[in-house]
Amino acid sequence: MQKRLVRKIDLEILLSQIKLHPSPKPSLEQYTIPADVAATILYIAAYTYNDIIDKTVIDLGCGTGRLALGAAFLGAKQVVGVDIGRTAVRTAYKNSEKTGLKNKVQWVITDINAIHGKFNTVLQNPPFGVQRRKADRKFLEKALEVGDRIYTLHKSFHKGKAFIKKLKASRTNTIPVFPSNFVKKFVEGHNGRIKAVYAMLMTIPHMFNFHTKRKHEFVVDLHVIEGKTKCTV
Ligand SMILES: C[S@@+](CC[C@H](N)C(=O)[O-])C[C@H]1O[C@@H](n2cnc3c(N)ncnc32)[C@H](O)[C@@H]1O
Repeated sequence: MQKRLVRKIDLEILLSQIKLHPSPKPSLEQYTIPADVAATILYIAAYTYNDIIDKTVIDLGCGTGRLALGAAFLGAKQVVGVDIGRTAVRTAYKNSEKTGLKNKVQWVITDINAIHGKFNTVLQNPPFGVQRRKADRKFLEKALEVGDRIYTLHKSFHKGKAFIKKLKASRTNTIPVFPSNFVKKFVEGHNGRIKAVYAMLMTIPHMFNFHTKRKHEFVVDLHVIEGKTKCTV
């Protein structure tokens, strides 16, 4: 377990070794989170809110494992990665072997609906509902059911050149923002509370037909949420 503070650059190097999904399906929005964005989320969770080291962590819709493996690398007590995609989870397992973290993460191939139990921390980069409307709601609901503290990414309503320029110039690569009405209402309707929201820039290569540019750059909001459960393990 890592007791010392891990340098962000070392975390980013580890995450960049984690292979992307070899055949991503647009219907499941199977793109892989960029290493820099994953490192920023994990760094905030671990060192701003103390929600990773010695904690039980679940990564819902883990894909090829960047968030789960990053949590294990930072010193989580127990990590579970869950995804409906067999190839995604197989790749995640191979990534865990490659990074020497094989014994630190349990991988499960299933729909998140099948997940029960309590975890200190949920990490998730869910489908944004671009392909299947409301796909993100199911993830939020499950996270609020099983998690004490939730780190969840959603498409931001902040956009425009000036905002992106400000984000690029920011030292932390984040800007604190207000939550969207939808997320706020949804979380409060499920007895959760939004503690903070950080806007960040996501850049992914052209990978699906509906991507019209060589690279796709957009703003996402990381929501830090206190769930309704209290995990006692
Ligand atoms: C945007 S990708 C994120 C992957 C990974 N967490 C990352 O950030 O690199 C969303 C993931 O959710 C998974 N997914 C979609 N619907 C799911 C469901 N109902 N149950 C479990 N996983 C699901 C997809 O297979 C995909 O890997």
